[in-house]
Amino acid sequence: VAQNVVIRAYEPRDREAARKICCDTAFQGEPVEKFFTDREVFADALMNYYLDFEPESSFVAEVNGKVVGYVTACCDSKRYRRTFALRILPLLLLKSLARGVFWKRGTRRFAWAMVRGVLSGAVRAPKLRRMYPAHLHINFSREFRGEGFGKQLMERALEHLRDAGASGVHIVTVKENDGAVRFFRAMRFQPLEFLPAPYWEETVNEHKTALVMARSL
Ligand SMILES: CC(C)(COP(=O)(O)OP(=O)(O)OC[C@H]1O[C@@H](n2cnc3c(N)ncnc32)[C@H](O)[C@@H]1OP(=O)(O)O)[C@@H](O)C(=O)NCCC(=O)NCCS
Repeated sequence: VAQNVVIRAYEPRDREAARKICCDTAFQGEPVEKFFTDREVFADALMNYYLDFEPESSFVAEVNGKVVGYVTACCDSKRYRRTFALRILPLLLLKSLARGVFWKRGTRRFAWAMVRGVLSGAVRAPKLRRMYPAHLHINFSREFRGEGFGKQLMERALEHLRDAGASGVHIVTVKENDGAVRFFRAMRFQPLEFLPAPYWEETVNEHKTALVMARSL
């Protein structure tokens, strides 16, 4: 059945729908419960910067009045890092402690694997390159993939980043996520850097490598 999609700017009323899609698609398009069972903490970690500090760079795809996909973006990844470290991480750690994330069964493995990885230097953020200061995340509910909606939403986000003056944009995916890699290639992103992701091995016993891809605008 052909479906009509509306691509529009993110609005505060889309928040819960976007957070749900974020959690439903967290593990290569599969639900977050595969590796972490606290949706509240996970969605805060992945979405708060974009929805609270730069909401004008997020867009949603809506079908029959329902949000089925989103793109969250950031024009300046330096600003993202600073804001995350100073304004988001402290509250996230407090909330994690309050909710028992570091000792509960469904959350402790991933939480400690991340802490270990960051402290040991094994988990690194992508090297910031002047060419590609912007970054984004894009995710769709399962039933709405492969319909060309991702492409439309991506084009809207790229246009916004271009208008905001960014020279290029990068994304981080997982090398093993073939569908995503093909999608980003189709959107003219090129592989730029591989990053270790030991937390997947330590959490779900699957070896994965993070892949940074980028394109100019
Ligand atoms: C990745 C995702 C955002 C792509 O959106 P989509 O709506 O499914 O993609 P589209 O239908 O708009 O496809 C656009 C292009 O990408 C290609 N493409 C998309 N998904 C593909 C797949 N799984 N395999 C091969 N090609 C794919 C299409 O062939 C199309 O190419 P074309 O323009 O040359 O015809 C979406 O499938 C998704 O949310 N997947 C699960 C979550 C995920 O992996 N997100 C990325 C995390 S980094």
